Amino acid sequence: MSQAHLGYESRVNLGSYYTPPEIVNIAWEMIEPYVRSQTTVIDSACGYGDFLKNCGQAITIGCDIDETAISVAKKNSDDVRLFQTNALCDVSRAKFGIPQQSYLIVVGNPPYNDKTSLIRHSIKDINFDIDEDIASRDLGISFLRSYSKLEADLICVLHPLSYLIKPTNFRHLKEFTANYRLIDGLLISSSKFPESAKHTSFPIVLALYQRDTQGMAYNFIHSFRFRIADKENKKHAAPIKPQRDAMSIEDFCLSDFDYITGYVDKYPKKKRPTSVEGNSHHSEKDNPLFFWTMRDINALKRNRTFVENYSANTIVIDKRKLDYYAYIDVFKRNLHRLPFYFGNCDVLIDDNLFKQYKSAFITDTVRHHPFLKKHFQIKPIEEQQAASGLDTYFKLLFGEHHI
Ligand SMILES: C[S@@+](CC[C@H](N)C(=O)[O-])C[C@H]1O[C@@H](n2cnc3c(N)ncnc32)[C@H](O)[C@@H]1O
Repeated sequence: MSQAHLGYESRVNLGSYYTPPEIVNIAWEMIEPYVRSQTTVIDSACGYGDFLKNCGQAITIGCDIDETAISVAKKNSDDVRLFQTNALCDVSRAKFGIPQQSYLIVVGNPPYNDKTSLIRHSIKDINFDIDEDIASRDLGISFLRSYSKLEADLICVLHPLSYLIKPTNFRHLKEFTANYRLIDGLLISSSKFPESAKHTSFPIVLALYQRDTQGMAYNFIHSFRFRIADKENKKHAAPIKPQRDAMSIEDFCLSDFDYITGYVDKYPKKKRPTSVEGNSHHSEKDNPLFFWTMRDINALKRNRTFVENYSANTIVIDKRKLDYYAYIDVFKRNLHRLPFYFGNCDVLIDDNLFKQYKSAFITDTVRHHPFLKKHFQIKPIEEQQAASGLDTYFKLLFGEHHI
């Protein structure tokens, strides 16, 4: 492990998970066509400086807040200008001596670290200043906004795919998305980073952005075709087409699918519904059903579906939508069919196809939650027949992505 000079706590606080060399090389290939002799390439969270090793004739600048990392970077390279400083404070080209007219490329793998997330909360301690105009609860988002403040012309960095595909995160990127447009995006599994391999893997994008006064709106991301780097998960998939075309499995596009969000309530209502207290719709009053809050597919992996008791995290099921909750319950048991890059998406659905295979879904849900039986009109079918129905459904739904 390359960031071995840091203890566990500092690694978490600094987001120091160094990039495997094969990924550094891909980033270099992506920026190479844009590098000229007067180009400046900066990695403002450079660690040991690996992203700056291969920059040919460009002027290279490295920066890291971590003193030891910078001293290792100094030994690794003679011609990189190195700064041991906080990249998020007093952000400007002048800070690094970059002329205003230089073509500036940012490369690297900035830290991401959600300051408000509960995971490892107790040891998180961010103790450096961040310029107000780029502040965010996630360090990675601040880094992206710092590149916009540097007026970088081209940006090639790794970051969680969730920054782009989750609408709330996308909104936090503000000035960044107003000034940049994604021109290439390669999806990589977090499991490629040795230290994150023990957690549920999530999608990371190696993203290439170009400065563009048009910027990009969320819809642009929704229909963007991302390339897929890690096909390991797809070993057992249908034969891979030899030629890459728009529909090849090397692409992933959000708008190729429909999502469950339009069919159910994803989050609890702000107020505890009166039906639970006992003065509304008859069947819900007598026999309310509860479902755990949904976030994304990775959260569904960890969480339950139908639950017995009401809490702040439960949805009171609107029984008219019960079939769709059953759908999610079955979907959860079939998550192994999906590759890593769906991790931050909502549950996928093909409503017409679902209607065709509904009895298979209901049978499966009732088998796992017998108490639900009385709530469904559809008669359960043979277990074997249900299993094969589900298999067909998921193969058709996931298509070339099916594992
Ligand atoms: C994911 S590592 C990347 C290191 C290297 N670029 C690589 O990929 O191998 C993130 C780096 O960001 C540095 N870092 C964290 N906060 C920083 C800040 N505010 N200013 C500059 N560097 C920072 C950490 O010390 C760490 O070296």
